[in-house]
Amino acid sequence: MRDVAVVGAGMTAFGELWHHSLKDLFVEAALEALRSAGADTVDAAYVGNMSGGQFVGQEHLGPLLADHLGIRGVPVTRVESACASGGVALRSAFIDVASGMNDLVLAVGLEKMNDGVDVTNVLATAADQEGEVYHGITFPGLYAMIARAHMTAHGTTLEDLAAVSVKNHRHGALNPKAQFGHEVTVEQVMASSLVADPLRLLHCSPVSDGAAAVVLCPLSRAREFTDRPIKIRASGFATSSMALADRQDPAFLDAVSRSAGSAYKMAGVKPADIDVAEVHDCFSIAEICVLEALCFAERGSGGAAARSGETALGGRRPINTSGGLKSKGHPVGATGVAQVIEIFEQLRGEAGKRQVQDAAIGLTQNMGGSGGSSVVHIFERV
Ligand code: COA
Repeated sequence: MRDVAVVGAGMTAFGELWHHSLKDLFVEAALEALRSAGADTVDAAYVGNMSGGQFVGQEHLGPLLADHLGIRGVPVTRVESACASGGVALRSAFIDVASGMNDLVLAVGLEKMNDGVDVTNVLATAADQEGEVYHGITFPGLYAMIARAHMTAHGTTLEDLAAVSVKNHRHGALNPKAQFGHEVTVEQVMASSLVADPLRLLHCSPVSDGAAAVVLCPLSRAREFTDRPIKIRASGFATSSMALADRQDPAFLDAVSRSAGSAYKMAGVKPADIDVAEVHDCFSIAEICVLEALCFAERGSGGAAARSGETALGGRRPINTSGGLKSKGHPVGATGVAQVIEIFEQLRGEAGKRQVQDAAIGLTQNMGGSGGSSVVHIFERV
C-alpha cells in the first residue's frame, strides 16, 4: 500500500441553501478543493450521498456531477452508508490511491435536504424498516432510546446532554460556515421544545444543505500540490446490527468501537495520542457514546467528560472544534468529508480562532444511522 495525503480542501457553508441546487453545491465545494490543490482535474472521484433520489429526485450522480464540474469522462462513483456516506467516500478514495490504481482522487460529501418533502421519513430509511420504522420510530426517537439507556445504566444527566450542545455551539460560533453559529446556554437547551423525550430541539443536529470536498494523492507526490500535506495514517470501517433491539447494549456503539480499533491498529497510535477529533454528534447523546467507544472516556463517563471542559477548546482533547453536527449543520452525506476538512485545517494550523495549539494527530469518526455503520480516519501533520 502507498502512503496517502490530503492536499486540498473546499466546502460550502452549511444551512438552508435555497438558491443552490445539488449540482451547484457539488461544483462549489469541488472547485474550491481543486483550486486549493492547484489541480484542474482528477483521475477519479467518489461522492458520498445518502439519498439524492428521495430528497431531490436525482440518482445516477456520477456522470451528472462529472459533467457539471467540467471533468466529463472521469470515473465518478457515488457511495452510500446513510449519514456515514461522506466518511466512506473518503475511505474509497484513500483505498484507490493507496492501491496504486489512481494518483489524484477527489472525495466529496453532498446532500440537499431542505428541498425534500418528508425529511424525517427519508432519514428513517437508514433504520431497520421491519424491526423499527414500521412501528413508528424516527431518528430522534432512536437516539432518545439510546439516551434513556445511557442514563439508566450510567446515571448520565440532562445537564450532561446539555453540556455537549453548549460546547459545540460555542465552537460553532467561531466557524463562519456553521448553520447555527450562535452560542446557547444550558438553560436554553433545557427549555427548548421537546422533540423525543429526553431530547429537545437544542440536542438535535438540524436539517441542512451542503457539500465538502478533499483532494487525495500519494504522499510521495504531495509537494507538487501543497507545501503542507496531511497524511492519512489509517482508515477503519465497521458495521453493527441496524436495529437497536438486536444490540447487546444499546448505549454502547460497537461499530464505532470496532472501526476505531482497526484505525488505531493500522496507525499504530493509542487514543491518548489524538490531539483533536471531529465526531458524529447527530444528537448530543451520540457524542457522549462515541467518546466512550473511541476510548477517549471510560465506559459510562462520556457525560462527565463533556461537563468537565476537557472536550472544549482549551481542554485536554478538544472535540468538534468545527461546532460539530449540532451547530455547523448535518447535510448527511456531506458530514464525513466536512469533518476531514476541520482536521485538515487544524493540523495545518489554519483553523483561526478554533485552532488547537500544536495539533499533530487528528481523528474523524462518522456514523451511519443509529450506529449501524461507522468509519474512523486518523491523520497526521507531515
Ligand atoms: N438546532 C437549533 N435550532 C434549530 C434546529 C436545531 N437542530 N432545528 C431548527 N432550529 C430552529 C429554526 O431555525 C427555527 O428557528 P426560528 O423559529 O427562529 O426560525 C426553529 O428552530 C424551528 O425550526 P423548524 O425547522 O420548524 O424545526 P422542526 O421542528 O421542523 O425541526 C428538528 C427540528 C430537531 C425536529 C429537526 O431539525 C430534525 O429532525 N433534526 C434531526 C435530523 C436528523 O435526524 N438527522 C439524522 C441524524 S442520524
